[in-house]
Amino acid sequence: MSLTTFSTERAGARVGRDTDLPTKVTAPSLLQKKLLRQPITAVTAYDYASARLVDEAGLDVVLVGDSLAMVMQGHENTLAVTMDEMLLYTRGVRRALRRALLVADMPFGSYQTDEREGVANAVRFVKEAGAEAVKLEGGRERKELVRRVVDAEIPVMGHLGLTPQSVHRMGGYKVQGKTMEAIDELRTDALALEDAGCFALVLEGVPRELARIVTEELTIPTIGIGAGPDCDGQILVLHDMMNMAFSNRAKFVRQYADVSGLMREALAEYRRDVEARTFPSDAESYHLSREMRELMGVQAEVVG
Ligand code: KIV
Repeated sequence: MSLTTFSTERAGARVGRDTDLPTKVTAPSLLQKKLLRQPITAVTAYDYASARLVDEAGLDVVLVGDSLAMVMQGHENTLAVTMDEMLLYTRGVRRALRRALLVADMPFGSYQTDEREGVANAVRFVKEAGAEAVKLEGGRERKELVRRVVDAEIPVMGHLGLTPQSVHRMGGYKVQGKTMEAIDELRTDALALEDAGCFALVLEGVPRELARIVTEELTIPTIGIGAGPDCDGQILVLHDMMNMAFSNRAKFVRQYADVSGLMREALAEYRRDVEARTFPSDAESYHLSREMRELMGVQAEVVG
């Protein structure tokens, strides 16, 4: 059982009334940030508690990424996670957010086979989980799908470069856009996605120089991960930056905290306390009233 709830102070202060923070982040407001040259801050989150911390920290975008297949479910890649599972995680995050824009990642197989099905699945994220936008991977081949999802009033975030759902085609997780041909392809894809109506574009695992060119060529903001500092914003997988991913850290990941280290220490201490019977203490216990103790003929326990 958890006794945490939103305080009314928080609920009121975060949206609209806090002078330090802008009001609710929306898909169009990210474009405004690009125009004002204000960096967009984004991170993944998959559950209520961490999403609430992200929101309270004032980040702009929370992505319920399909990376959850790896960091929450222990899969080797992102391919196995299903629509129903993505919806479940997205609902938990929805309940945590007050200010940040909630983007849900369309999982592998939910949009590749049929555009009608892709639109229907995007609608499910909005209707059943409260997402405010969806993200999908791919370039020109997604143009029609992006148009249709946008026509259904759902903002779409594109994703180019190292697209993890193409891991088998790419032959592993490799930096993309290194040859002249690949550079041309990616630039054409980026313009096609913008033309189709995407409101932002994730650039993953591409050379800094290419990310910069694309960022300058597009009107919509680019959000980089392993794409250098010249994008309009940055995104990281929360579990990577907190050392919770149980994998080798990629070059582009900066570790901001050692949460797994803290948890290991805390769990070892808890185990020691339980085994030594020093947890729980008397002060951490509930007690019968004096009258009840007398009635039952039991002594108050005095524990040192
Ligand atoms: O699934 C995910 O976490 C992502 C980010 C890496 C952008 O797509």
